[in-house]
Amino acid sequence: MGSASSDFLAPGRVLISEEELATRVREIGASITADYAGRAPLLIGVLKGAFMFMSDLARAVDLPVEFDFMAVSSYGHSTRSSGVVRIVKDLDLDLADRDVILVEDIVDSGLTLNYLRKNLMSRNPASLEVCALLVRDSDVYDETSLRYIGFRVPDDFLVGYGLDVAERYRNLTEIRVLDQGVDPGAGS
Ligand code: IMP
Ligand code: MG
Repeated sequence: MGSASSDFLAPGRVLISEEELATRVREIGASITADYAGRAPLLIGVLKGAFMFMSDLARAVDLPVEFDFMAVSSYGHSTRSSGVVRIVKDLDLDLADRDVILVEDIVDSGLTLNYLRKNLMSRNPASLEVCALLVRDSDVYDETSLRYIGFRVPDDFLVGYGLDVAERYRNLTEIRVLDQGVDPGAGS
């Protein structure tokens, strides 16, 4: 614990350390435990970026949670959202009458989340809240629609702790700002 990823893996400066991530994830887990007391929320992770956050978050929630995953493709081969969201893998479970918590890695423009929210609401859950590890610190997205937020982050391209560029760097233990000059490819 506490060791940063090796320089070999590391593409840029650390924005959020492993310790800061762990502390915040525990806090959010405690909030969810309190807010959903007596219930069994269904965590829906948006693949692939949210897998690491969701794994740690679930272990910080002291409730009988259940899991499902969705995979969407939102970026194609650029680092900015096109607004075109495609479901690559749909849910396995029925959402009817479930208390659903959608777990996202990062809300940037919010286009992906807006699409997912409409899509999930049409399946008649008892409730739907959003838990985003990262949110861009800008006026682009209305944060009031996010129930749980980990960190507000600047408009830099970030990698690590699930976030990738061209599928790399997801296994960094911290969140880093991608150095200029590293060629960005597809993300998800
Ligand atoms: P939005 O639709 O613009 O909100 O984009 C959200 C999705 O874009 C996230 O779930 C990520 O998969 C991806 N994304 C946005 N910003 C970054 C970043 O800085 N690094 C890696 N992926 C990102
Ligand atoms: Mg994503």
